[in-house]
Parts: sequence; structure tokens; C-alpha cells
Amino acid sequence: MNQRIVNVGTPDGDYRVVVGAGVLSSIATATADALGHEPAHVFIVADAGVPESARAAVIDSFAALGASVHVHVVRPSERDKSIETLEAILAAMARTRHERSDPVVALGGGIVGDTAGFAAACYRRGVPIVQCPTTLLAMVDASVGGKTAVNLAVPGADGAPELRKNFVGAFHQPILVVADIAMLSTLSDRHFRCGLAECIKHGMIASEAGDDQLGPWTASALDAAIARDAATLIELIARNIALKATIVGRDTRETDPAGGRMLLNLGHTFAHAIEPIHHLTPDGDAAHAPLHHGEAVSLGLAAAAHCATALGHCDSSVESQALETLASVGLPTRIRNLSETGRIVDAMLHDKKVSGNTLRLVLPIGPGRARVFSDPPIEAVRHAIDSIRA
Ligand SMILES: NC(=O)c1ccc[n+]([C@@H]2O[C@H](COP(=O)([O-])OP(=O)(O)OC[C@H]3O[C@@H](n4cnc5c(N)ncnc54)[C@H](O)[C@@H]3O)[C@@H](O)[C@H]2O)c1
Repeated sequence: MNQRIVNVGTPDGDYRVVVGAGVLSSIATATADALGHEPAHVFIVADAGVPESARAAVIDSFAALGASVHVHVVRPSERDKSIETLEAILAAMARTRHERSDPVVALGGGIVGDTAGFAAACYRRGVPIVQCPTTLLAMVDASVGGKTAVNLAVPGADGAPELRKNFVGAFHQPILVVADIAMLSTLSDRHFRCGLAECIKHGMIASEAGDDQLGPWTASALDAAIARDAATLIELIARNIALKATIVGRDTRETDPAGGRMLLNLGHTFAHAIEPIHHLTPDGDAAHAPLHHGEAVSLGLAAAAHCATALGHCDSSVESQALETLASVGLPTRIRNLSETGRIVDAMLHDKKVSGNTLRLVLPIGPGRARVFSDPPIEAVRHAIDSIRA
């Protein structure tokens, strides 16, 4: 079987990421290896959008080891990435008498991985979690690095709830990640493109982790990836995880003020302010609202590149290259009906990356290179937001 193993080393524990076709069928033995014992009881948090056959493969694998298996199905939407869903998972775990040494398995996209990961971090002060990402975005990004969270609905000035993205969470590293590319055969093209947004982001910061090749290689591999060529997908996922592992290994809890893990947030401060605007659509078709996370990241990358060019932090070719690569896979770099600029700046000031009311932005400074900038001129930020208006 063509598979790749990437090792992730963090102060909170080391773990393996297994990438390949069909690797979900051996999840139980891989979990037993990671735990150091065969699990007697497994709690699966399953994404409602994942085909029944994937769920069955995981259940069968654990059942063959003699484990009792409970499945809790979660609807994957940003509204449902909530305290209420978290509470329902925790209550279901308690009902099944889940013990502290029993693993939770997250089977799904990034929403399910983040929510189940946070449940595992909280339940009886922490139980092991195995991440089984089933979207490209979760495979190349969300399943690795131990960030877990749910969104928080906070009443805004007009009393209507505003969704604060990933506002309540914890660092909780998985004990194992199993990325089975067979899962990607049922993923929609739109969600597949969202995963490519994070790959393109990784290429834009890769030199900071000593990988000058990831950006150019990704650009050259995009056509084969979109055609879902198996060898390309395995390579793409393994290379992106290796990049993330290097960055997370150096600054696991994002405490390095000079960059470190924060570099992974390139484009995300803009994206997190845009993503909750519910009427936005990537292509003007109202039926496609709201934006998906990867689409908001794509717009955020475009805005960050524009901001960096306007401030003279990088050559304009970095911006044009980013826009060209994002557009070449059908990701949005401009958007209609964006809210008033001041409202977006306000939302950016609520982002978790803000410290003492000072905005910190990750901006590109060259091909594959980025830096954190504190207190960037607000006029440049406003211009960057306006640059993504269609
Ligand atoms: N923890 C992190 O480090 C991190 C990093 C990046 C993003 N995220 C989070 O990840 C989330 C986005 O994740 P996502 O892009 O995976 O979106 P998602 O979780 O919403 O999944 C996308 C859609 O694909 C469906 N789906 C999942 N697997 C499928 C499959 N194999 N076949 C068919 N359909 C399938 C889901 O049901 C869902 O409708 C956001 O909430 C974001 O904040 C977290």
C-alpha cells in the first residue's frame, strides 16, 4: 500500500500521521500502538456528511479488536460548532461511561475534528483523541497541531448574536492522525478547493520553516491534485503536514511573538472577520451562501498580500502570484456585497490574535516568507479590505 508516515513532535507528546489509500481499515491497530494497549471502549464523533461506508470501516476495525463502539453523529456547520454540540457530545460520552484511558475518534472535516478534539480535551480533564480527517482541509491542516475549539455566539451592539470563531478551546494534541485519501473521492469540488486554500497558504510561509520548495511544488501539482491523482494527493498531504509539524514543533502553543506558529494564521485575521457574514457567496449565487472557511481564507490571503504590497513589505509579484494561484483553482480573491469596511476592521479587532487592542497581522514579505506586524496602519488594512471587493 502506498502510504506515508509523518512524525509530529511537540512538548505535549509525539504522534504519527498516517497518510494513504485505505488506511482507515487499520485504524484500530494503529490506535492500540499509539495508546500502548488495546482499547476496550471507543467513542466515535462522526460527521453527518461522511459516507456510511467510512463510518462502518472504523467501527469494524475496532470491533475486530473486541472494543465496544459508540457513535455520535454531528451536523457540521459553523453554527453547530457550538457549546451546545460540545455539551451533547460530553453528555453522550458520560452516558456510555467513557473512561479516561478510552479514545475518542473524530471522523470528519475540520468542524467535527475541532469540536470532538475540544470534547476530548475537556472530558474528565482530557482523554486521548485520534483524528481521522475526511476533507482535504482537515487532512492538510486542522487535524494536526492540537488546536481544538468551538465558536461562541456573543450578543452584538444590536443584540443579535455574533459568531466569534474558535473563541473557546484548548490545545490538545491527538495521539494519532489517520488521513485516508479514499475519503476524498466523495468530497465536493467546492470543499476540495477549500483545502487547496490552506495548501497555498502553507506555500506562502514555507521558507520560514526551511522548505523553499513547497510553494513552487504546490503550484506545479495543482492540476493533478484537482484531478485527485492518488500519488499527488498523498504527496500533497504529507508535505503540508510536514510543514505544519515543523512550525508547531517549534512553537506549539503559539507563544513566540516573532512569528512561530502565528505564521500559520496568514490571511486568517481577515478571513475570520469575513467568514461570519452570512449573506456572502463565492460566486454571486445566493444559494451558495455562506462562504466556507477555505473561501474566506482565500480572500484573507488576497487581502494580506495586498496589505503587504501597499506597506512596501514585499514586491508586488508576491501579490500577483498569490492571486493567480488562488484564482487558478477557482478560489475567490474578490467578493460582492462585503459589509462596510469599518465593520470588518472592528471584527478583526475582536480576533484572538489581537493583544491589548493592538492588531497583529501576518503579512508576506517575499516568496515563501512572512512576518508578524503589530499595529499596522489602519488605512492600509482598510485598503486591503477594499481590494477584495468585486
Ligand atoms: N484546528 C485547526 O488547526 C484548524 C485549522 C484549519 C481549519 N480549522 C477549522 O476547520 C473547519 C473547516 O473544516 P472543513 O473545511 O473540513 O469543513 P467542514 O468540517 O465543514 O466539512 C466540509 C463539508 O464536507 C463534508 N464532508 C466531510 N468529509 C466528507 C467526505 N469524505 N465526503 C463527502 N463530504 C464530506 C462535511 O459533512 C461538510 O459538509 C473550520 O471550522 C475551521 O475553523 C481548524
